Amino acid sequence: SRPFTVLGIETSCDDTAAAIVRSDGTIVAEAIMPQHEVHAKFGGVVPSLAKEAHQEAIEAVVAQVLQRAGLESARELDAISATVGPGLEICLRVGARKAAQLASDFELPFVGCHHLEGHCLVARLAEPCRFPFLSLCVSGGHSMIVKCEGVGRYQVLGGTLDDALGEAYDKAARMLGLDMKGGGGPELERVAREGNPTSVPLPVPMKKRKDCDFSYAGLKTALKLQIEKKRHDAGLVDEEEPLPDQDVADLAASFQHVAITHLEDRLAYAFDRVRADDAFQSDQGRPQLALVGGVASNAEVRRRVSLLCDRAGWDLVVPPPKLCTDNGVMIAWAAIEKLHLGFSDAIDDEVYPRWPF
Ligand code: KG4
Ligand code: ZN
Repeated sequence: SRPFTVLGIETSCDDTAAAIVRSDGTIVAEAIMPQHEVHAKFGGVVPSLAKEAHQEAIEAVVAQVLQRAGLESARELDAISATVGPGLEICLRVGARKAAQLASDFELPFVGCHHLEGHCLVARLAEPCRFPFLSLCVSGGHSMIVKCEGVGRYQVLGGTLDDALGEAYDKAARMLGLDMKGGGGPELERVAREGNPTSVPLPVPMKKRKDCDFSYAGLKTALKLQIEKKRHDAGLVDEEEPLPDQDVADLAASFQHVAITHLEDRLAYAFDRVRADDAFQSDQGRPQLALVGGVASNAEVRRRVSLLCDRAGWDLVVPPPKLCTDNGVMIAWAAIEKLHLGFSDAIDDEVYPRWPF
């Protein structure tokens, strides 16, 4: 069939993003306006500030992708899509409203996308990745292992019982006093490179529980105690006085080491669970794992999950880092996968903040 071109808009959390993608997988144009600096001095994303930042950025971000694609207006597109859930309600509304308005103005098909479906399906844009595959989706809001059986057919094998992995990275970065302006996770990864990953004893979560669920709250508490211990050992009493850089690096590296060991443990159970499933063991090749979501942009996470896959006889598919963190491409691509199957939605700016996967 003739290739078609889709605009995807993503505003579910703290990035205002848009992209234009062609149905053959070509990324025609992309634009993103992150908000880390807006939220850096608070304990996390502040919904009202995020909404304001999305409202201020949305017109410019959409205009930018159209211009970068060499299009005069959205009239020249074949379909419009936006993330409609899950996420922050007032933020989702900004993107959904803009997308619905464009679809209605130019009488184009509209597709409302699930944020996690975007994260998982973009693995199929990056590399050949056939159904069924397993997906490890690790972001600021989710840690999940999902059996992806087809477009719209997902079975969650395990999820987080408390903090998501990205959230744990962000909280750990804050406790370590790191600069949050470029995001806590990337900064912790950078600092951890200088540290010894086995120098600080931290417990691997849920060692006795043989399933695919995650828990990072206990690790966070254990890290807090180890930070206090290091401060005490260094004779620091003044709250404002920072720990020596090497201590911070060792704590960061040790946190990251144990956080990833927990991922490995849960993945091993997931691999076991699909071992008897013939669809995964087809003669077309080895079973495939897609590593997606914001934390999948972390080089150490990618390295360790890749080693685990090698040992277990699985193929690993990881999108390039900029397609792991929130972006417009994954939403345009999820819409393309649905449109290929003849599916679209009524034009509507309704959003679903707690849409299950
Ligand atoms: O997928 P994403 O962009 O947004 C959500 O859907 O949540 O993921 C954002 C999360 C944040 O918690 C961020 O700190 C984390 O992913 N993250 C990282 C890295 N880059 C982003 N965590 C660890 N290392 C990184 N390099
Ligand atoms: Zn995300």
